[in-house]
Amino acid sequence: MIRLFAVASVLGTIAAKLTVQSADLVIRNGSIYTIDRVSTKAGALAVKNGIISFVGSNEGVAPYVGNETKVVDLHGRAAIPGLVDSHMHTLSGGLFLLKCDLNYQPLDLNAVLQHIQRCIDDETGKSDTDWVDVVNLDFPSLVTRSGSVGKVQLDKLNTSRPLSIRSSDYHTVLVNSRALELSDITASTPDPPNGKIERLPGSKEPSGVLQDQASGLLSGPPPPNEEQQVEAGRAALKALRQAGITTFQEAAAGADAQKTYKTIQTEGGLSSRGWFDYRIEAPPSLDGVPKLVSNAAALIKSLNDNSTIGPAPALKWQAIKAFVDGVITYPANTAALIDPYWSPVNGTNETVWRPDNSTLNKPYWSVEILARTLEGLFLQGIDAQLHVDGDLAVRIGLDAAAAFKKKYPDRKFKLGLAHDELSHQDDWARFAELEVDPIMSFQWSQLSSFYIPSTFQSLAEYRKRNLQAYAQIEKAGRPITYGSDWPVRR
Ligand SMILES: *[C@@H]1O[C@H](CO)[C@@H](O)[C@H](O)[C@H]1NC(C)=O
Ligand SMILES: *[C@@H]1O[C@H](CO)[C@@H](O)[C@H](O)[C@H]1NC(C)=O
Ligand SMILES: *[C@@H]1O[C@H](CO)[C@@H](O)[C@H](O)[C@H]1NC(C)=O
Ligand SMILES: *[C@@H]1O[C@H](CO)[C@@H](O)[C@H](O)[C@H]1NC(C)=O
Ligand SMILES: *[C@@H]1O[C@H](CO)[C@@H](O)[C@H](O)[C@H]1NC(C)=O
Ligand SMILES: *[C@@H]1O[C@H](CO)[C@@H](O)[C@H](O)[C@H]1NC(C)=O
Ligand SMILES: *[C@@H]1O[C@H](CO)[C@@H](O)[C@H](O)[C@H]1NC(C)=O
Repeated sequence: MIRLFAVASVLGTIAAKLTVQSADLVIRNGSIYTIDRVSTKAGALAVKNGIISFVGSNEGVAPYVGNETKVVDLHGRAAIPGLVDSHMHTLSGGLFLLKCDLNYQPLDLNAVLQHIQRCIDDETGKSDTDWVDVVNLDFPSLVTRSGSVGKVQLDKLNTSRPLSIRSSDYHTVLVNSRALELSDITASTPDPPNGKIERLPGSKEPSGVLQDQASGLLSGPPPPNEEQQVEAGRAALKALRQAGITTFQEAAAGADAQKTYKTIQTEGGLSSRGWFDYRIEAPPSLDGVPKLVSNAAALIKSLNDNSTIGPAPALKWQAIKAFVDGVITYPANTAALIDPYWSPVNGTNETVWRPDNSTLNKPYWSVEILARTLEGLFLQGIDAQLHVDGDLAVRIGLDAAAAFKKKYPDRKFKLGLAHDELSHQDDWARFAELEVDPIMSFQWSQLSSFYIPSTFQSLAEYRKRNLQAYAQIEKAGRPITYGSDWPVRR
């Protein structure tokens, strides 16, 4: 047996020498993770024209080394396939790399103001209508360390410019008085749909804290121009390369993302495969669904690169993105929950947290409108990714999938439910039953300032085991799909 094998092996090597094309790239002397069914590791691999032409031993790869082959000796180190990140905001991430960046640090008010003042002082030649655009604030840390923060505190900065600070969870924006003034947001401005203008205690005067869609009322900062968008895309792709991410799903794309990435693709810089989820908003009633579906489907189809997937990265459009709620984190508490959040109440000696019915937020989509919209899209072969952070939003997403499955038992559809930070135990097995993909960010199970102490208190002890329940969802039969949500961080 052994001899026969040896002979066959020698013949095989000779045959290989006669027939193989020399590779463009050979990686050898490594521990290469192949992700086959049993996670085989190989020592070497060869690549020709962007396609892997050999996986095996260091000896086996030898015939693939020609005089023009680039050979990389791993010296025993690991190589893994490119990573797929199914939930990112690459253009925001890239833009943030180019702005006044608080970099997710847990800071108190003083440190925040100091950092921003440095950004302001570094930017010369600006007028009192040029916005100061600050990103990646660790908002819960700031509130925990320094109490509530709004325009009163931000107005202490030495600037006459309008200022906005975006929280790194992306749901809260802090602004100064100049920003409110320029945007004409006053005591008589009502809360917009799906948003909240926070007010100073005992008054209607805006406090400078804007939740969710309320930040849409701001007249600035101006959106990036085309050149800045392209610069952001390049910065993002560089960050992705450094992290080994070779496929990204842009989790809330506007049609302009196509133009940006097309420019980068044309200049030869598209180093990762892009999949874009076109963002849609809920229509006010069921009557608005057909138009929403036909417009979204037409746009998605017009942007999609229909070519077969090959070695070169392409720009694919075949899904929508919709936000069913906000976030569970305190003090935003904008995610839709089955039971109310608990809010702090001043007791005689200490603050106590109690269920607070005023926190029962309406989800941004009703089950009926969502189900009808998804039905229209699924029937046209368009997939969906939904933002669902609270347990009620998760349930609404699953209910919409169930409605489709009941009506069309034999039709395949692809639905991803992103975040699922709080999920009800009765819903864990439904992901597997309905073949719906949970898209989750494992790093959010760190005990960061976004959760400790206040978010945990506002969810109460009894819901702790329902937080970030990826193990339970997987145990119930549906594997988790990872999405980092970069640059959003908690
Ligand atoms: C590689 O080898 C081929 C054939 O043996 C030869 O024609 C070619 O010039 C070589 N290229 C280099 C860069 O040495
Ligand atoms: C393979 O890697 C090991 C570990 O670094 C090194 O000692 C050895 O020289 C390498 N072998 C070859 C053939 O390059
Ligand atoms: C405020 O900034 C201006 C420059 O914009 C500077 O001249 C002035 O000294 C600063 N004031 C304080 C109190 O730092
Ligand atoms: C992809 O195919 C659809 C329908 O077959 C077509 O309408 C659309 O224009 C194509 N898109 C591109 C980018 O070629
Ligand atoms: C609760 O107490 C804090 C000081 O401990 C005070 O700032 C706050 O206004 C009080 N809130 C209410 C609703 O009484
Ligand atoms: C408040 O503090 C006092 C003195 O420490 C204590 O006797 C009392 O039981 C406390 N009340 C509550 C409601 O915890
Ligand atoms: C909150 O709402 C629930 C359900 O509607 C009700 O049973 C409960 O009494 C309410 N609690 C308060 C404090 O109003």
